[in-house]
Amino acid sequence: MASNSSLDLFYDAVLTLTKSAGQIIREKNLERNKYVEFKKSPKDLVTETDKQVERYLIDGIAGKFPDHKFIGEESSKEIVLTDAPTWVIDPIDGTMNFVHSFPHSCISIALYVNKQPVIGIVYNPMLEQLFTARKGQGAYLNGQPIKVSQVKTLSTALLMLENWGPSPNYQLTPEVQEHLKSLSDDSHSSRCLGSAALDLCMVACGAAEAYYSYGLQVWDIAAGELIVTEAGGMVTDVNGGPLDRLAKRMLATNNKEINDALAERLVALEEKMKKKGDL
Ligand code: IPD
Ligand code: CA
Ligand code: CA
Ligand code: CA
Repeated sequence: MASNSSLDLFYDAVLTLTKSAGQIIREKNLERNKYVEFKKSPKDLVTETDKQVERYLIDGIAGKFPDHKFIGEESSKEIVLTDAPTWVIDPIDGTMNFVHSFPHSCISIALYVNKQPVIGIVYNPMLEQLFTARKGQGAYLNGQPIKVSQVKTLSTALLMLENWGPSPNYQLTPEVQEHLKSLSDDSHSSRCLGSAALDLCMVACGAAEAYYSYGLQVWDIAAGELIVTEAGGMVTDVNGGPLDRLAKRMLATNNKEINDALAERLVALEEKMKKKGDL
């Protein structure tokens, strides 16, 4: 396990690198006609800025801490998570937003040691929102401590909801539609920023009560998970059980009451879909 003083050294160095990488994103964000490529589908985008920022961060960290390992969305061919200090990097979370100059995208970077997050940084350079957390030291927005909200009932909760569900290709099936409608009827309202990391940070700072999603990769959740838990919230599997960081499914809430209420509905949705043969 890395000592606290070495964690502080890693944190300070990577925070500086993340802020300067953020300038690259901020400068490019308003540019129209960005060079965009498709990955697995025409909705799965990557720009030269995603690749440039990832390279910048990895080169910068490797230059300072040559023993550290990396998992990065744009450069890792496969995801191998060992106990070694590993930086889990999403160079732009919210690439679709970035392509449209919609100012809700961020760098998400976390340090895992023994497969557990110990540092989490989420930086939206367009809105100058810097969310940070270190294990056991609380969570912060631009240096000010943040806490999850106290809301305990779904009826007064604001939910960060994606418009898809658990099916193998994440479609909006009739069951998922019905589930989303019932959630929006039974809660205060719903939102979605189009960046998993920023959606998680909304839960962390008390602006929303919950976010869940299917299809998430480890780089989408690595920093946000620690920021939510350090802000007093909880991050679990969608069924309320322990989170498997590589399982591509996650539920983050401000507290156990909201977690139980959503997990119950998500389990019921999965059961219904299984019965129908959709899962
Ligand atoms: C995506 C965003 C989005 C989430 C997707 C992610 P990307 O990441 O976080 O909010 O719904 O599952 O893939 O591709 O913009 O880094
Ligand atoms: Ca992507
Ligand atoms: Ca992402
Ligand atoms: Ca990304």
